[in-house]
Amino acid sequence: MKDFNFYAPTEIVFGEQSEEKVAQLVKKYGGTKVLVHYGGQSAIRSGLLDKVCDQLAQSGIPFVKLGGVVPNPRLSLAQKGIELCREEGIDFILAVGGGSVIDSAKCIAYGVPYEGNVWDFYLGKAKATAMLPLAAVLTIPAAGSEMSESSVITNEEGDVKLGYSNNLSRPKFAIMNPRRTFTLPAYQTAAGVTDMMMHTMERYFTKDDDMDFTTDVAEAMLRSIKNAVFAVLKNPEDYRYRAQIMWGGSLMHNGLTGCGVTEDWATHQLEHELSGMFDVTHGAGLAAIWPSWARYVLHENVSRFVRFAVNVMDVPNDYTDPEGTALKGIEAVERFYHAIGMPVNIKELIGRDITDDEIREMTRKCSRDYTATCGGLKVLQAEDMEAIYRMARG
Ligand code: NZQ
Ligand code: ZN
Repeated sequence: MKDFNFYAPTEIVFGEQSEEKVAQLVKKYGGTKVLVHYGGQSAIRSGLLDKVCDQLAQSGIPFVKLGGVVPNPRLSLAQKGIELCREEGIDFILAVGGGSVIDSAKCIAYGVPYEGNVWDFYLGKAKATAMLPLAAVLTIPAAGSEMSESSVITNEEGDVKLGYSNNLSRPKFAIMNPRRTFTLPAYQTAAGVTDMMMHTMERYFTKDDDMDFTTDVAEAMLRSIKNAVFAVLKNPEDYRYRAQIMWGGSLMHNGLTGCGVTEDWATHQLEHELSGMFDVTHGAGLAAIWPSWARYVLHENVSRFVRFAVNVMDVPNDYTDPEGTALKGIEAVERFYHAIGMPVNIKELIGRDITDDEIREMTRKCSRDYTATCGGLKVLQAEDMEAIYRMARG
């Protein structure tokens, strides 16, 4: 079993009345002038943005608004946010939205006290030692950024999508009202669930399989979320199951399911090149890659894939044929993805055949010009990455 640190400092305020507490929470965490950061239309249409701003105004907390964050959030808007925060003397950032808005807020928060270019952190050229405090009013359960230490930003110059992780960036608090997720389109709901399940699967498929408590927790989470998604796709206003998914999204990426094990993250790394190049929804991109990754690495730990097949995907265990059982588990995941409207390969994801040149370009970027590996269950070299992209082309 690996030694570990588990650090989850974010205060979670969950439920239908949670938004009423936004101003008092901002004050509690020291905010005196706030940047309210948001996305395209959804938070305006639902009235959430006005509600949050009204709460701040009534409590005498001055604020400035910056909207326009798009999925796969762009560096240029974050740089604009950094300038705005400096000009306005902002000392707290409130992200109203999903992973993209929260990640953009994190990028701004890193950039304000930093004299260089904030992209340095994402390139690995610098490590942040200070940042503005931030918090989230979550509208889509998916990325888990409301409790995580990561942010993922796309630099439009070269369509490069890179993540940066630092415990400083864990939000101070996250407000979660499941009712706010009723308006999510089915595709975003399903992609979100795919993403949160993958956050746990990236930690589950490991060679360190002696941390049974972590594994049992992970399996229970995966089963629970897998069932909940069908309930909300049938009835988008099912508060009970929207709530399971919302809470699940945070716990599945706050580090809990990685305690004591070596994590993998290859599917995420491979996917970031897809969403960087084609601007697709991150969760759908993961669904397009995972089955091919799984078949490629299966032999690194067949018994782990068997356990997953049986305990999570309800595949009967054929003790005479472990590999067959493991493969049936992967097929069951593909059926699950199709049942919730997700792709299982790149062709289904982007609606056309991917070209050889595009595969080579994604391989180059994913391997950082052939200098970096990814993955933990199997450490992938550039040729492995290319092989998985080819298997996933569909
Ligand atoms: O812009 P608006 O109009 O708000 O529309 C959004 C957006 O189009 C919409 N939406 C959000 N809440 C809604 C809603 N529509 C109706 N009703 C609501 N209540 O949903 C769309 C997707 O939003 P986005 O924030 O992009 O989704 P998500 O939370 O999946 O975030 C994806 C980003 O997070 C990154 C991904 O790579 C991607 O860039 N990730 C961040 C991680 C982290 N920070 O820890 C980890 C993840 O693995 C992931 O990589
Ligand atoms: Zn993800």
